[in-house]
Amino acid sequence: MADLDAVQDTKEYYLDIPQKSEAFYLKGSNALGWGMQNRLARIFNPETGRTVMLAFDHGYFQGATTGLERIDVNIMPLAPFADTLMLTRGILRSVVPPSMTKAIVMRASGGTSMLKELSNEEIAVDIEDSIRMNVAAMAVQVFIGGEYEKQSIINMTKLVDQGTRYGIPTLAVTAVGKDMVRDARYFRLATRICAELGAHYVKTYYVEKDFETVTASCPVPIVIAGGKKLPELDALKMAYNAIQQGAAGVDMGRNIFQSEAPVSMIQAVRAVVHQNETPEKAYELYKTLKAEA
Ligand code: R5P
Repeated sequence: MADLDAVQDTKEYYLDIPQKSEAFYLKGSNALGWGMQNRLARIFNPETGRTVMLAFDHGYFQGATTGLERIDVNIMPLAPFADTLMLTRGILRSVVPPSMTKAIVMRASGGTSMLKELSNEEIAVDIEDSIRMNVAAMAVQVFIGGEYEKQSIINMTKLVDQGTRYGIPTLAVTAVGKDMVRDARYFRLATRICAELGAHYVKTYYVEKDFETVTASCPVPIVIAGGKKLPELDALKMAYNAIQQGAAGVDMGRNIFQSEAPVSMIQAVRAVVHQNETPEKAYELYKTLKAEA
């Protein structure tokens, strides 16, 4: 039985302080449930509303690509500097220690290799397994204009439905076929379709012209993929421009893990994303950290 001796008569109800009712800070996410918002808050830093996602899920269709030959050796040292890790469940369970508390964005589609038609994917992770892995979000590739466009869209809507049951957000990854034009018009179409059909946030590529129209017309947050390896300063410029034009973060892989100094590069990317650092100053930071390493 509880010890009643310590019960005090005086109580303070703070009658002059109304209980706070805060709007959720993330674009288009105010009407989501508590679990969904909490998971998004683990991905998007509540202080900046932005995220540095470290993407190293490429092996799900490419195998051991350059920089990802040994994830334990090459990638895990980067984890402390990322807000979020984007990876496959195979790598999560075989390489990532469960004591690592970074938000996990789980690659949940697959079924093709780079030797075949990439858009012919299906959902490749059961929702129950995502729950077991305590993921913060699930990621699915959407191939607008691709050969298996409809199948990939339905993969996404199924994942949104499954995730909604348990409060797990879905990241739609817009995948562009080799022969398709990567311009703002295409990305406005692709990102908007993903958001309209329920994606909680969308990954796209940065385009030099009119990128702000892509972020403006997408009602949920957009993060940009890094794409193929660029010189470090150029990659930082791309991240900076994307952020200044409305992106809520980066989901960057090769431009970090294929850098000459990945640990320095991810810190420079962080400065651009979370501190609005200019690319030039972030590049100076990169060089300083690289020299000290
Ligand atoms: C590729 O299919 C994966 O979704 C990657 O996560 C994505 O492309 C981001 O990586 P990167 O910055 O290397 O383009």
